[in-house]
Order: sequence, then C-alpha cells, then structure tokens
Amino acid sequence: MGKLSAAITAVGGYVPKFIMTNQMLEGMVDTNDEWITTRTGIKERRVLKEEEGQGSSYLAIQAVKDLMKKKDVDPTEIDLVIVATATPDSLVASTAAFVASEIGATNAFAYDLLAACSSFLFGMSTAASYIESGKYKKVLLIGADKMSSIIDYTDRTTCIIFGDGAGAVLFEPNTEGLGMQDEYLRSDGSGRPYLGMDAGGSLMPATEETVKNRKHFIYQEGRTVFKFAVSNMADVAARIMERNGLIEKDVAWLVPHQANKRIIDATANRMGLDNSKVMMNINKYGNTTSATLPLLLYDYENQLKKGDNLVFAAFGGGFTWGSAYLKWAYNK
Ligand code: UT7
Repeated sequence: MGKLSAAITAVGGYVPKFIMTNQMLEGMVDTNDEWITTRTGIKERRVLKEEEGQGSSYLAIQAVKDLMKKKDVDPTEIDLVIVATATPDSLVASTAAFVASEIGATNAFAYDLLAACSSFLFGMSTAASYIESGKYKKVLLIGADKMSSIIDYTDRTTCIIFGDGAGAVLFEPNTEGLGMQDEYLRSDGSGRPYLGMDAGGSLMPATEETVKNRKHFIYQEGRTVFKFAVSNMADVAARIMERNGLIEKDVAWLVPHQANKRIIDATANRMGLDNSKVMMNINKYGNTTSATLPLLLYDYENQLKKGDNLVFAAFGGGFTWGSAYLKWAYNK
C-alpha cells in the first residue's frame, strides 16, 4: 500500500439568491460601476436575504447539502467538521458543532477555524493532517462567510468588495499519491491595524460607544493590504512551484483567493501562467472571504481531471497567507 495522502473527493457550494449589482451600490454610496470593475474586477456579489435571521451556518449547511446531493456520503461516518470562517454565527458556541448536528454528522467532533481570508487554505492543511495521521477517514471542511453581517453599507471602501457564500469539500485518504502534496503557510501580526473589525472581541467588548462609532463593521486600509497581498501571494505561489519542481506547463490550475482581480493577475503572472489556467469568479461573487477557494472548486469542478496539479494561494487579515499544492483526485 502506498503512502497515505489526503484527497478532496467531493465538492459542494452555495450562494444566496439575492444579487447586489454595482449599479445598486451606485445608489447607496459614492461609487460607480466603472471604478469597481477596473479596480477590483467585481460586477456583482450575493447577499443573504432569503432566510431572515440566519448566519454563516445557514450558508455552510446549504453547501454541504449540495455536496451530499452529488456524492453519497453517510453523515454518521464523518469524523470531523471544520467551519473556516471570519463570521461565525456567534462567539463562544462553535458554529461547526451546530452545522455538524444539522447535517446529521452525529459522530463527528467539530470546530471553527478563524484565519480571515486564509481560513480555508489553513483548514486544508488541518484537514489533510488529520487524514494523513491515519486516525480519521472523513473530514468535512467548509468555508462559509456572511460578510454582509459585518459590512457598513455606507462605507464605499468595503461594501463594494465583499459578498456572502459557502463552499464545502470532503477530504478522504488516498493511496495513489493524489491529494495534498505540499503547503507553505505564513502569518505576520504586524498587519493587524490594516484589516479587521475593532469591536466585539475581548479587546474591545461591545458598548453603546462602539455601536455608535460603527466599530462592529470591517475596515480595510486597502492600499496597504493590496501591496502586501500582491507581493506575498505571488511569492508563496512561486515558492511552492519551485520547491516541488513545477514549471508553468505542469500546473493545470491556479486557485487564488478572490480579493482583487489585479492581485490574482499579478500572482498568475509571477507563476508564468496563462489566464486560461486561472480560476476566477470574483466578477459574480466578490470577495466571500473563507468561501472563495471552495466556491472556485464548485464552479470549476466539471473541468477538473484526475491528476491535475492545482496551486492554491490566499492572503488575508492578520496578516495571514500561504499556498498549497494539491493533485486532483477524480473525474466528474
Ligand atoms: O481579502 C483580504 C485581503 N484584501 C485584499 O487583498 C484587498 C486589497 N486591496 C484592494 O483590493 C484595493 O486596495 C481596493 C479595491 C480596496 C481599493 O483599490 P485601490 O486602487 O487601492 O484604491 P485606493 O484605496 O488607493 O483609492 C483610490 C481612489 C481614492 O481617491 P483619491 O484619494 O485618489 O482621490 C479613493 O477615495 O479611489 C477612491 N475610492 C473610490 N472611488 C469610487 C475608494 N473607494 C472607492 C469606491 N468608488 N468604492
């Protein structure tokens, strides 16, 4: 028997029905379709409205239901459910525990993984390690974010960027050498002032003042984050290629975090990749934070072939960033 590796064996996704277009935002803040399109590549994003009073768990559950429609998985056989998110339903009680119960994963343990926009990428490393240990056979990794819950729709620097969505993947053992091959994950806490949400955590608990001063919304010093993102995402992706002896023709797909089309283009350029090898859906979903990577797999699943080399790259608040190299394990 070959060495045990951790492969993705199924994918699911969900985006809310409500489409918020650039034109709609023109009526809400001082912006325009041309600025948003040329600076970010975004034309529209989804906002969870159909189910009032639902959080990120709702999105996560829908994504898992989609996965289970396509693959016959007995939920009681799932060992672990990880919800990668920046917008858990609430603090303290694990969102993943609720999701696991709702999908019938009654024998699983479950927890949330918070690393801003890199949550799903870091979760891939976590999920794969559990499988590679030989102790667990089925790990469900979900990236889910209801970004609209922390967006100030009077702030044009953030409201044009983010959207809601979720994607889910199942990791299982593989003995053919497919699945996760390598990863290079990084963080730098000096990035904290540039992207985040001030209040609501232990550092600045909620008060009347924090609400009045709009401290429960996400803020971003876009230009600074852009500079870090553009160089770091490209660096780690190039490094993963180098240390695995991959050249441009060996890479079937770049799976990049969808924060800004210009950052994605710079990363692809550094890797020497043609646009046709770059997964992209930022135009229709915007930045869905932890959901961007699995939603790309969801949208491109039909084009993926067994043995394809995929290079993932992400950058997010904290700062957190990294890259992973995975061999696709199945044909649709
Ligand atoms: O996912 C987590 C990681 N996040 C990222 O990687 C995001 C990184 N940052 C970015 O993608 C970009 O910085 C943004 C898309 C957020 C902003 O684009 P930018 O090209 O960096 O614009 P800027 O912030 O430098 O602003 C340029 C101008 C400013 O006007 P002045 O000072 O040049 O007169 C802004 O006030 O554009 C103005 N501006 C806008 N204009 C129309 C800022 N936001 C808007 C807007 N509509 N929505």
